[in-house]
Amino acid sequence: VAQKKTKLDPLRASAQEEVVTEYTSSLPFDKELYFWDILGSIAHVDSLKGAKVLSAAEHAKIRKGLAAVLDNLNKGKVELRPELEDIHMNVEALLGDMIGPLAGKLHTGRSRNDQITLDLKLYSRERILETMEELSELQEVLLSIAKKNLKTVMPGMTHFLPAQPVTLAHHTMAHWFKLHRDFDRLSCCYDRMNCCPLGAGAIAGNTYDIDRFATAEALGFKGPTSNSMDSVSDRDYAAETMFCLAMIQVHLSSMAEEIALWNNPQFGYIKLSPTLTTSSSMMPQKRNPDVAELARAKVGRVVGDMLSMIVVMKGLPLAYNRDLQEDKEPVFDAFDSVVDSLWAIRSLLCCADFDVKRMRAACSAGNIIATDLADYLVKKGMPFRKAYLTVKDMVNCSIDEGEPLEEWELSCFKEFSGLFGKDVLDYVKPESAVERRKIHGGTSSSSEKASIAIAEKYVERQLKVMESIEEDVEGTITRLLGAKAGSRPQ
Ligand code: ARG
Repeated sequence: VAQKKTKLDPLRASAQEEVVTEYTSSLPFDKELYFWDILGSIAHVDSLKGAKVLSAAEHAKIRKGLAAVLDNLNKGKVELRPELEDIHMNVEALLGDMIGPLAGKLHTGRSRNDQITLDLKLYSRERILETMEELSELQEVLLSIAKKNLKTVMPGMTHFLPAQPVTLAHHTMAHWFKLHRDFDRLSCCYDRMNCCPLGAGAIAGNTYDIDRFATAEALGFKGPTSNSMDSVSDRDYAAETMFCLAMIQVHLSSMAEEIALWNNPQFGYIKLSPTLTTSSSMMPQKRNPDVAELARAKVGRVVGDMLSMIVVMKGLPLAYNRDLQEDKEPVFDAFDSVVDSLWAIRSLLCCADFDVKRMRAACSAGNIIATDLADYLVKKGMPFRKAYLTVKDMVNCSIDEGEPLEEWELSCFKEFSGLFGKDVLDYVKPESAVERRKIHGGTSSSSEKASIAIAEKYVERQLKVMESIEEDVEGTITRLLGAKAGSRPQ
């Protein structure tokens, strides 16, 4: 750490250098990018050969050297040098150790400005795929819970109070569709991001006869970016990715909250697998839902990651500014947090026991068929406002007597309105309330089957999206490293 001195007593030169190396180095975190950095370099030397900047022999030697550097890094055989500021300079230095002065040709026509944004895009593409895969797995669990519970009634809540009966399937599928939109958002964001910045150089492009289209294709991009200044200063893809990730985490936090509440014995709708809960150091009876609580809490950091990215970008003049180096840690952290949380919530759900009896009992306790009773009277000719007030009186009476409406006898109903007939006794059952909502998107079992069919179509589309991204990501590796892409970091 640099010595602290007063301004009248300036730092000695070596201490000044320390300030710069310590404070500006990105190596501690950008080393995470070494794999994609080297792949980008391989694509770059291929294009330098195409532009006749490198002879075939030079190209072969550099390529071989880069592959060897990659191999060494994968095996942890080399020490990175902190004084070299970042992963890009380190890779170049390692190449120099391997092949000598020829390594000096690697960076021809390239800047770290186009290099770093390329690396971050390549990294993000792979992690978007990973996120999509995890997300789909969670959706699969939700879908299977839904399919098993088309007729499981439970209180749906508004304002966190019992409102109307729904099915567990309907509740579960509500989360499913949110996750589907998250998937879709990520996929659009991927499409916008997937243009290759290499060739933009430091700011203005480069003077070599490089075929940017071929480089983009080799790296699995849909094409090159169209403005060099935009290419090196663009981080909206990172901000947008993090918005998508933050939204996923927000959705997971609602699920986590419900899991924790439903697992509370006062709800008792689910029982978490004991192995997925933790014990208290003091209270022997406790099994705590820490996994759900942490998934709920991680919203804070993911939203924080997104915010820090956007704020870093604010007010930056074109084009590259060192501020942009602050992009990486939030991106890495957001992906890590979301991928882990998707996995955690899926684990909780697929091992949980659902107590359908508790859910059913909660339906009659809450008088949640009150709206249906008003609808009943309306269908028999009473204006809605009058029906509403009649049922309100009935609810008050039910509370006074401690007798849920669902258990009333016909004579009691008749005391409030002569319009009530024998059919009301079935009408007040939550099962029939649910089945009356046959509207598109409603909670009846037939509506639910229809929306599950829609979801299954979306699943097919999601699979196709993942296949195509996998082709971009894995195709890049096989094209640049050969069919035996064994040199993948794990
Ligand atoms: N470490 C830098 C970053 O992460 C790489 C680009 C540096 N460019 C420069 N001109 N200093 O953004």
